[in-house]
Amino acid sequence: MMYSEKVMDHFMHPRNVGEIEDADGVGQVGNPKCGDIMKMYLKIENNVIVDAKFKTFGCGAAVATSSIATELIKGKTIDEALKVTNKAVVEALDGLPPAKLHCSVLAEEAIAAAIADYKRRHGLDVENSECQGCCCKCETESEDSEE
Ligand code: FES
Repeated sequence: MMYSEKVMDHFMHPRNVGEIEDADGVGQVGNPKCGDIMKMYLKIENNVIVDAKFKTFGCGAAVATSSIATELIKGKTIDEALKVTNKAVVEALDGLPPAKLHCSVLAEEAIAAAIADYKRRHGLDVENSECQGCCCKCETESEDSEE
């Protein structure tokens, strides 16, 4: 089987699908490799992410990574959430096939975009957002797989 049980679980029963009407930050990104789209909604109180929801026109791997990513960032401060890399997300899913690693980038970038939106709305500095919607490094990163 190419996909871990965790991937299948989060694909079949994705957590946090939907939208937050009064979200404090909304981010949408597209995947240049496949054209899939991810939209992330964050509810933020005192710099802490208290709720996260997503919608996607993405594949199963994108659904699974976004599902677990929203679970990972809930309860974290926005700075902590920005440190949740797609590598951490993939590890939390017990791995993804190399050909699907670019899908996991979508969740990480959508979270970053939603946090950037939140910061913009609050007049905070937006750093590290130079490379939006770019996953050109996926293929080189996929070399260091564990198994
Ligand atoms: Fe597009 Fe996975 S194939 S996000």
